[in-house]
Amino acid sequence: MTAVSSAIRFVLNGEDISLTDIKPDTTLLDWLRLERRLRGSKEGCAEGDCGACTVLVGRLMGDEVIYDTVTACIRFMGSLHGTHVVTIEHLRGENGNLHPVQQAMVDHHGSQCGFCTPGFVMSLYGLWMRNPDPSQGAIEKALQGNLCRCTGYAPIIRAGKAMSSYGLPQGDPLLAERIALKSRIKAIHDGGRVEIGEGAERIIVPASLDDFAAIYEANPEATIVAGSTDVGLWVTKFMRAIGPVIFIGHLQELKAIADNASEVRFYAGVSYSEAMPVLVENFPDMAELWDRIAGEQIRNMGTIGGNIANGSPIGDTPPPFIALGAKLTLRRGTHRREIKLEDYFIAYGKQDRQPGEFVESVTIPLLPAGEKFAAYKISKRREEDISALCGAFRVFVSDGGTVGMARIAFGGMAATPKRAKAVEAALVGKQWTQDTIETAVAAFAEDYQPISDMRASADYRLLSAQNLLRRFFLETTGNGQRLRREVA
Ligand SMILES: Cc1cc2nc3c(=O)[nH]c(=O)nc-3n(C[C@H](O)[C@H](O)[C@H](O)COP(=O)(O)OP(=O)(O)OC[C@H]3O[C@@H](n4cnc5c(N)ncnc54)[C@H](O)[C@@H]3O)c2cc1C
Ligand code: FES
Ligand code: FES
Repeated sequence: MTAVSSAIRFVLNGEDISLTDIKPDTTLLDWLRLERRLRGSKEGCAEGDCGACTVLVGRLMGDEVIYDTVTACIRFMGSLHGTHVVTIEHLRGENGNLHPVQQAMVDHHGSQCGFCTPGFVMSLYGLWMRNPDPSQGAIEKALQGNLCRCTGYAPIIRAGKAMSSYGLPQGDPLLAERIALKSRIKAIHDGGRVEIGEGAERIIVPASLDDFAAIYEANPEATIVAGSTDVGLWVTKFMRAIGPVIFIGHLQELKAIADNASEVRFYAGVSYSEAMPVLVENFPDMAELWDRIAGEQIRNMGTIGGNIANGSPIGDTPPPFIALGAKLTLRRGTHRREIKLEDYFIAYGKQDRQPGEFVESVTIPLLPAGEKFAAYKISKRREEDISALCGAFRVFVSDGGTVGMARIAFGGMAATPKRAKAVEAALVGKQWTQDTIETAVAAFAEDYQPISDMRASADYRLLSAQNLLRRFFLETTGNGQRLRREVA
């Protein structure tokens, strides 16, 4: 019998918090600013884009407490059970001194109006904790999710480069507290479930993966919330009611990554940031695409399972995963079934998922030797932008130069992520030559009739997809310069 408690418990800065009366859609930012009067974290966009609300959330991973930057505006209170929340207010020393990272920002003129500054400081603080002497690339990456409208980024980056000269993490005034906090955080993880409220106000934090499976089977009307980088916006932008809610972001079993000589399996709760090292190792041609998903805070929160489950036609993981032949494991209660990822997407807003069934994992076969693969994202901004289109290409070309196999998949070109089967057919059995490519690009119009929207026109999408095939051909035949950017 699973023990059930009725309080969301976490540590805010140095204080133990226990909440027995909290709504499923209360965000951390609202709670900090309105309930706790901690107004250092700002609300700029309320949709995870600007980083003004950045805080650190420490969570237990094995025996360690790992600190991630997150956007408090789209993080719900129910997801904080068993964590340590650190806000900008906590960085100031007891004697009123600025933290080394703050002092570096002051001395390098990293702030003008100051609205964005707490968010930048928290992102730099998170970076400094794990990498006090970062390269320019690492600083830019850590700040991908922070926008400043007045200072300009050069002084902020200079502060990032200088921060280690103001102090090192070993001497962090907060280090002793963090070490002491570990046992308090561990004590909250008592192996039990948390349940608060009733009906549409109900919050459930399952004790384990099995507990989640049983709860969701019995409550298929509930909203699953993993990283809340989609669901957060349902609340802050669309004022949608989301309760009852089952929070799953804390489930260690859903954070597992299993790889062997033939495949990699990501459980659904693996965040983009957690997946990155494994992807870079096994699919280096996906690294740049991954680095262009959102910004660091969203990559720390958003999960692979959420990106697939939401069925979005413009999610960035389905096209490369479909091109690689990924399979999805769906689970309802104790029953599991496996389907091809491409078959999961039936129509716009319709996926092959039964009531009470959830995405448990996605399994991606490793690329066989000799196959060529690439994934490309086209968006208006390099960072922190949703794809206008995202395409992935995989071909096998024999020693004689014949295309033996082709798998091409796109997002942003149809109502679902979708394979380009006519283009594939136009390639297979032909010579891998520019002439073949020029014939095959015409087939894109058979596969896709894209729409025009704020991200791109239909014509732009079609032409870009055709040009991406040309680019893939040039890159794989050594005739084109590889247009990739190094990922920090
Ligand atoms: C600022 C910003 C930038 C973004 N940039 C990008 C981008 O560049 N590329 C991109 O692809 N996406 C982007 N996104 C979208 C978002 O990050 C992803 O879709 C994310 O992967 C969703 O995962 P999550 O864990 O946050 O999902 P949640 O918001 O928690 O859930 C999303 C949906 O999936 C369901 N769900 C979650 N987990 C499961 C599960 N295991 N089984 C069944 N259902 C489940 C939820 O009920 C909900 O319907 C961005 C979002 C923001 C806010
Ligand atoms: S307020 Fe803009 S990211 Fe949270
Ligand atoms: S200092 Fe004004 S927004 Fe950055």
